[in-house]
Amino acid sequence: MTDLGIRAATPADSEFLVDMLVEAVNWMPERNWSREQVLANPALAHYVTGWMQPDDFGLVAVDPGDRPVGAAWFRYLTAADPGYGYVSDDVPELTIGVVETWRGRGVGRALLRAVLDAARERGIPAVSLSVERANFAARLYAAEGFRTVESFEDADTMRFDIASRAQ
Ligand SMILES: CC(C)(COP(=O)(O)OP(=O)(O)OC[C@H]1O[C@@H](n2cnc3c(N)ncnc32)[C@H](O)[C@@H]1OP(=O)(O)O)[C@@H](O)C(=O)NCCC(=O)NCCS
Repeated sequence: MTDLGIRAATPADSEFLVDMLVEAVNWMPERNWSREQVLANPALAHYVTGWMQPDDFGLVAVDPGDRPVGAAWFRYLTAADPGYGYVSDDVPELTIGVVETWRGRGVGRALLRAVLDAARERGIPAVSLSVERANFAARLYAAEGFRTVESFEDADTMRFDIASRAQ
């Protein structure tokens, strides 16, 4: 993370968040969804549609030239339009992605820790996410304190209880 900064996401980051959502969808080399395919799929697009909504919150990691290299954000989805990692209306879902050339250098872990700290500061009791089990990101989440609360064929829903954890 040397020389990288982390700042709050703004409405101007909406396109970059779409980029990172596409990266999250295409985490495996065999999958290559286009941006258009992702945005045309309501179950995926609703993680970024209309960014930013009043309850949205996110962080962007930037390189020394202020170019974004990764993002982590949470969004409240509802029982009427649940995300893959939905647990309840009052638990936002986390999405995270790092630009390919920056992966494996600590950006993802730093973003994850920072966004969980930010959630705590905002009084959010818990956050959840969905991760395909074969994605190494699942191990990162577990190492940072997420626990699996529901398992599907290929994916797990994981939850991080902020309120119950020591600072
Ligand atoms: C998942 C992701 C956000 C992690 O960010 P990152 O910056 O690459 O991760 P970090 O460098 O902080 O590494 C975190 C841990 O994962 C490990 N790791 C990193 N890349 C790895 C890889 N390709 N395979 C296995 N483990 C890996 C690291 O070793 C590190 O663990 P360690 O500190 O114990 O060594 C990023 O790789 C990414 O954007 N992937 C594609 C999108 C995606 O999968 N999003 C999540 C969908 S649920």
